[in-house]
Amino acid sequence: MKMMEKPGAVRVGIIGLGGIARTHLEQCRAMGDHVILQAAAEADAGRRRQVCSEYGITHCYDDGISMMDQEELDGVIICVPPFLREPLIRCAVEKGIGVLCEKPLATGLEEGRRILDICRAHPEVPVLLNFKMRQGGNFQRAKQWMDKEAGRPTAILARYALVTDPDIWAPPRWFWDIKASGGLLIENAGHMIDYIMWIAGKADMIWGYTKQKSIASLPEDYMRKSQTEDHAVIVMEHEGGCTTTFVNTICYPGNRDGSIEIATSRGYFLEISECVRLRIRKGEEILAEYEEEPYGIGDGYTLKQFIEVLKGGEKGWAATAEDGYLALEAAVRARESARTGNWVHIREKG
Ligand SMILES: NC(=O)c1ccc[n+]([C@@H]2O[C@H](COP(=O)([O-])OP(=O)(O)OC[C@H]3O[C@@H](n4cnc5c(N)ncnc54)[C@H](O)[C@@H]3O)[C@@H](O)[C@H]2O)c1
Repeated sequence: MKMMEKPGAVRVGIIGLGGIARTHLEQCRAMGDHVILQAAAEADAGRRRQVCSEYGITHCYDDGISMMDQEELDGVIICVPPFLREPLIRCAVEKGIGVLCEKPLATGLEEGRRILDICRAHPEVPVLLNFKMRQGGNFQRAKQWMDKEAGRPTAILARYALVTDPDIWAPPRWFWDIKASGGLLIENAGHMIDYIMWIAGKADMIWGYTKQKSIASLPEDYMRKSQTEDHAVIVMEHEGGCTTTFVNTICYPGNRDGSIEIATSRGYFLEISECVRLRIRKGEEILAEYEEEPYGIGDGYTLKQFIEVLKGGEKGWAATAEDGYLALEAAVRARESARTGNWVHIREKG
C-alpha cells in the first residue's frame, strides 16, 4: 500500500454514486480527519456532478479504472451494480489499493472464483465485503453470547423480508436483470446467508425453493423476462451439525424484517427481531434483552472497519472476499436445488 501524506488519514476513492454510495459518503464525512475523500467515479454525468459537489469531491471521473490509474489512493469503495465488479477489484488489488466492495462478490461462481483468485494472489491487499447483518449491534452481541456462553447454534430459523412498494423499498432497475444482479438469492439473501454461516459454519448441504411472484409496481412481461426469483426458501445443513431454515422474500406484504431465532447447544434461545431487539432465553427464563438502533444504520460500519484496516489495524468482524464467495456459492447451489428439487451437496460433511 502507498504511503499516506497526512498522518492518520487514508485517501479513499468511491466508484458508483447511487443509492448505497450515500451511506458510505456519510460515514466518510462522519469519520472526519481519518478519511480524505479524494476522488469519485460515476458513469452518469448528472449524478456525478450533483454528488461530487454535495460532498466537495473535486477529482471526478466517469469510470473507476481511470480514477485508480490517475489517483494516489489507499482504498476504494466499490458501489456499482454487481456485474461490474471484477475489472475494478482486479485493478485495485493489482495496484495495491485496498477494497471495500458492496455485496455480492459476483453474479455467478466462475466470476466469483476469478475474483477470489485475484485476492488470494495478493493477500497483503485487504478486500472487505459489505454484508449488512454481521455489522448490526445485536447480531454481533448474539455471536458474542454464543462464543462465550450459549454454545454453538443447533437450529436456526431466519427471515429476510422486504416489500417492493416503491414508497418503502424499490430495488434499482438492474436488480431485476439476473445477469446484472445475480438475482434475489445472490443479491439479497446473501446478507443473511453470510451471517448464518458466520455463526453456524459453512453449509455442507443445501435445499432451495424459489418462485417468481408478480409485483404490482412492475409490468408482468418485464418480470417474466427478468427470470429473477423474488421469493425463496433455503434449508442448510451446516458443517457443525446446525440446521437452518431461511425465508427470503421481497414480496412481503408486511413491514420489512430481518429476523433470526437461534437455538444453541447449551439450551439457550437467541431471538433477533428486525435488527432492533435481541432477547436471550434459557427455557422460559429471560437472561438479557437489548434494544438496538433502527434497521439499516449498520450499513456504514464496515466502512469504519475498512478505514481501520487501511491504517494497519485488524479487520475484526468484517467479511472478506472468502466470505463473499461462500455466500455466493450457497445462493447458486440453492437455486440449483430449486431447479432439480434435490438436495445439493456442497462439500463433504464436516
Ligand atoms: N449493503 C447493503 O445493505 C446494500 C444496500 C443497497 C445496495 N447494495 C449494493 O450496492 C451496489 C449498488 O447498489 P445501489 O442500490 O447503490 O445501485 P444504484 O443503481 O443506485 O447505483 C449504482 C451506481 O453505479 C453507477 N455506475 C454504473 N456503472 C458504472 C461504472 N462503470 N463506473 C462508475 N459508475 C457506474 C450508476 O450510474 C449508479 O449511479 C449493489 O451491489 C447492491 O447490491 C448494498
